Amino acid sequence: MTRISFDGRVAIVTGAGGGLGRAHALDLAARGAKVVVNDLGGSIAGDGGGGAMADQVAKEITSAGGQAVANYDSVATPEGGKAIVQTALDAFGTVDILINNAGNIRNAPFTDLTPEAIEALLAVHVKGAFYVTQPAFAVMRDKGYGRIVFTSSAAGIFGSPEQANYAAAKGAVLGLANVVALEGAPHGIKVNTILPAAVSRMIENMNLETLAGVPTTPAHNEPEMITAMASYLASEENPYSHEAFSIARGRYARVFIGVTGGHHVPADAPIATADDVAAHIDTVRDQAGYHVPGSLVEEFALIP
Ligand SMILES: NC(=O)c1ccc[n+]([C@@H]2O[C@H](COP(=O)([O-])OP(=O)(O)OC[C@H]3O[C@@H](n4cnc5c(N)ncnc54)[C@H](O)[C@@H]3O)[C@@H](O)[C@H]2O)c1
Repeated sequence: MTRISFDGRVAIVTGAGGGLGRAHALDLAARGAKVVVNDLGGSIAGDGGGGAMADQVAKEITSAGGQAVANYDSVATPEGGKAIVQTALDAFGTVDILINNAGNIRNAPFTDLTPEAIEALLAVHVKGAFYVTQPAFAVMRDKGYGRIVFTSSAAGIFGSPEQANYAAAKGAVLGLANVVALEGAPHGIKVNTILPAAVSRMIENMNLETLAGVPTTPAHNEPEMITAMASYLASEENPYSHEAFSIARGRYARVFIGVTGGHHVPADAPIATADDVAAHIDTVRDQAGYHVPGSLVEEFALIP
């Protein structure tokens, strides 16, 4: 088995001061990457708390003989995103890999979610992913190579009670990744999304009611389990793009959104009514023979 190497590569990992991001940064560096360790520090709510967390991880890397610089900017502003990418350019001359990992959480029942709790999550997960990826993508496009990993969540794709703000933000991340993947394809930029589940301070602070029904049998929940997929997707060995992968409880699996064959009203038939939809709803919902379109164009091309 060939050992995946990041020799000569420059990586940015956002939110790398702890949890999954720290594990990603350590592995990339141990495999030869020069790493920008970004984290604004602070609580799980996403309040800035200073540079200590990013400094600590950068120090862990350099103490082990690797190369890293810390960056404390917030991903959530255009200026912060540019500064994070500029840190990579100043320290290491380029950007080959971006892992969008920074995140915050503020759970509450749907009607209790405050405007602040909604805005704060959209700011970090969604705007943060935009503002760091835009300048990084420009560098990758100009050099004709790049690997971008976005971090979504099962909560965002499948739903999770009392996490409407988090789920909306994480769902948006997948939508963003799909377009960046399509635009990156002609430039050698592979873009994929992970849906992790691992022990971190974020999970430890979740309302346990939210996780009711999750099996409690022993399973791999280490951050490094997530890193294994993130590093693979960030590597030159990865030929895949525009895909999403769930890593949970020791299981690695592809996640995709499909469309059923559906019920088709030919152009020369009368326009459908609500009664027609009711008459055909079983066919509309029938999952047998579904398709997984690679774009809006591919979806429309499926329709006779
Ligand atoms: N742990 C899980 O099971 C799980 C499940 C699904 C998704 N995720 C996602 O994985 C990612 C990592 O989460 P984690 O579990 O390691 O949690 P974590 O809280 O340990 O890590 C998130 C990091 O992001 C940093 N951060 C927050 N706002 C930031 C900002 N504006 N700019 C820069 N950094 C910022 C935090 O300081 C923190 O170090 C997040 O995007 C999270 O939503 C985690």
